[in-house]
Amino acid sequence: MSQPKTAAAPKKKAILTDTVTNKTMDLPIIDGSIGPSVIDVRKLYADTGYFTYDPGFTSTGSCESKITYIDGDEGLLLHRGYPIEELAEHSNFMEVAYLLLNGDLPTLEEMKKFEKDITYHTMVHEQLSTFFRGFRRDAHPMAVMCGVVGALSAFYHDSLDINDPHQRMIASFRLIAKMPTIAAMAFKYSMGQPFIYPKNKLSYAENFLYMTFAVPAEDYQNNPVLAKAMDRLFILHADHEQNASTSTVRLAGSSGANPFACIAAGIASLWGPAHGGANEAVLAMLGQIGDKKNIPEFIKRAKDKNDSFRLMGFGHRVYKNFDPRAQVMRKSCHEVLGELGVKHEPLLDLAMELERIALEDKYFVERKLYPNVDFYSGIILRAMGFPTSMFTVLFAIARTVGWIAQWKEMIEDPSQKIGRPRQLYTGHTRRSYKPVQQRG
Ligand code: CMC
Repeated sequence: MSQPKTAAAPKKKAILTDTVTNKTMDLPIIDGSIGPSVIDVRKLYADTGYFTYDPGFTSTGSCESKITYIDGDEGLLLHRGYPIEELAEHSNFMEVAYLLLNGDLPTLEEMKKFEKDITYHTMVHEQLSTFFRGFRRDAHPMAVMCGVVGALSAFYHDSLDINDPHQRMIASFRLIAKMPTIAAMAFKYSMGQPFIYPKNKLSYAENFLYMTFAVPAEDYQNNPVLAKAMDRLFILHADHEQNASTSTVRLAGSSGANPFACIAAGIASLWGPAHGGANEAVLAMLGQIGDKKNIPEFIKRAKDKNDSFRLMGFGHRVYKNFDPRAQVMRKSCHEVLGELGVKHEPLLDLAMELERIALEDKYFVERKLYPNVDFYSGIILRAMGFPTSMFTVLFAIARTVGWIAQWKEMIEDPSQKIGRPRQLYTGHTRRSYKPVQQRG
């Protein structure tokens, strides 16, 4: 189980019979190291003239990967073989970043060098602060992130050549290092406060909290419990195999686009409420519910197919048992509130009651809908002092590591091709153009 391997040469096959032509075709079955095997349909169109049809990719593997493994039925999440609970408990975000990027945990020397490489790149080009001023003061920080991260490709011309391994590495370091700086700048800009330069003696999480919450007029003291909680939150969001934003990064990168543009595309995809935007949506929903006595009404609405309301922070495409990240997050939530001396947080009480009622409800039980990573993260972040508009930004900081690792893996894969799905066309068949005067 621990040894990664390249997908084995296929010995098993699936046989496809076309009942129209009575022809059969052998489709190789490829085994991974763990998890479901895949039916290799790459030659299907050439041999039969058929495409496969799978909107939402519910049964489609889009790539071979050695980075992250999820068993949704078991509630298992492994990064390079290591369970997320162990990483969240014993590791730190920089070490997890190294692991995701390089495949193994670092030695002490490797770790020191990696941290030095990352911290060397924490500052952003000074002209970027001018770029910020083009945004409206009330711009959503995710809009700012999409724009500014995309714009990095206009500032760092010496790391755009994706065919040069050294430039790929520098671009990766730059993105991981600069994301917290840019995110903190987005926050400061919205607050009308001066940007704070990074301080490289601080850890990744500490530095981010410092750039976000320090002001030049006051001394700033990092709270180690909150820094640890921030670091853990980054670990829990670092990667999640081929989710929507990661697939977006891979697809954008498959055309040879530069890494800064690809990560900007990932940020855009993450923003949606069905994905990373759910953490912001959870708090909005808890606010809307307002009181425990209103929970049954909202549960009823979530079950009503004619109502667009869904329980945000509930359900997952892959996890059909529990989301292991949500369990760590729930524990962390209690720790953070304890540290901050919050004896009674009505939102947490409301969230726990909502979870309890939903998990006893037949609708949620039958559909295997459990709280996901976003359900409790918003409560932690709010307690730390982040406005809800920053929640998905924090997700983006952490996921940048996963995006980069997946992008790098794709670029280094010799079988890599431009991503180009096909379709089931159901529009008009060929028809002739009519001048406007002849259209009825
Ligand atoms: N509330 C009420 N019903 C739900 C919910 C929900 N949150 N999620 C799924 N369902 C129902 C859905 O209506 C469907 O019912 P039926 O079979 O009767 O038609 C069934 O459960 C299956 O749902 P689905 O939409 O086919 O599942 P999916 O895999 O396409 O969607 C999801 C997964 C995460 C988008 C969805 O569960 C959802 O919208 N959840 C709320 C948003 C959320 O919390 N997103 C964060 C996901 S975790 C972090 C991340 O990925 O960024």
